[in-house]
Amino acid sequence: MNNIIDGTKVAFKIREQIKNLIEKEKITPQLAVIQVGDNKASDVYIKNKKKACEEVGIKFELIKFNTTISEELVINEIKRLNNDISVNGILVQLPLPVGFDEGKIINEINPVKDVDGLTYQNVGNLVLENDCLVPCTPLGVMELLNAYNVSLASKNVCLVGRSNLVGKPLIQLLLKANATVSVCHSKSLDIKNYTKQADVLIVAAGHPNLITKDMVKEGVVIIDVGINKEGNVLCGDVDFEEVSKKSSLITPVPGGVGPMTVSCLLKNVVKAYKIQN
Ligand code: GUN
Repeated sequence: MNNIIDGTKVAFKIREQIKNLIEKEKITPQLAVIQVGDNKASDVYIKNKKKACEEVGIKFELIKFNTTISEELVINEIKRLNNDISVNGILVQLPLPVGFDEGKIINEINPVKDVDGLTYQNVGNLVLENDCLVPCTPLGVMELLNAYNVSLASKNVCLVGRSNLVGKPLIQLLLKANATVSVCHSKSLDIKNYTKQADVLIVAAGHPNLITKDMVKEGVVIIDVGINKEGNVLCGDVDFEEVSKKSSLITPVPGGVGPMTVSCLLKNVVKAYKIQN
């Protein structure tokens, strides 16, 4: 039985579409990424973003500061990028080093260039169901479900995780798709009560093997957003080996949501370009 969701395949299809559109319309969108300090995971994410951008014809600029930079100088750089009409997307790679006020810094980004969808304006517009730039990973999850024809209307969708980057925006997107949404998090009691009822279970908690086979019902669709490192091996938040035996569809890690995040970033850069032009 092939119940594995191929995120890499769906993601590459999207990249092909973006590449074709950029070629056909003869446009050159540009993304600027700000990185503060050295974080190994961030280095990998940024490398993947750069490669994907260049493959489809999006110009990529990395602005890297060391941790001694002041918040004020980071904000000055954002202001410079806001005013540079050749830059269409601005992304501040998270997490920022301890001591930096992420909310304050991100909110300096012009909302029309906020390809991560994290400024107050974009978050507010998402809640109000206005068209806006939406965070890339949640968008990737929705695109993946859509690509596999998973209907959400009136379904029980259980979300494990409530981060600003993934869980919270997903709540809005799932509600918009008319799902019945339950949200579990680190302070929830007996999350199995909720996960067991889920037709679709989306896990973004950052804990390897958090979801075991006794916690899901037969035929469930599983989206595993977790990216954890156990020794040298990447794994998600779901015990894939066992849970996959009960699920009708399941994302692997790697090769599930990860490549979709990058493709949706490319989509957002093109969308930002169109808003600005
Ligand atoms: N760090 C991990 N994922 C992300 C993301 O999607 N955007 C940003 N800015 N930082 C991240």
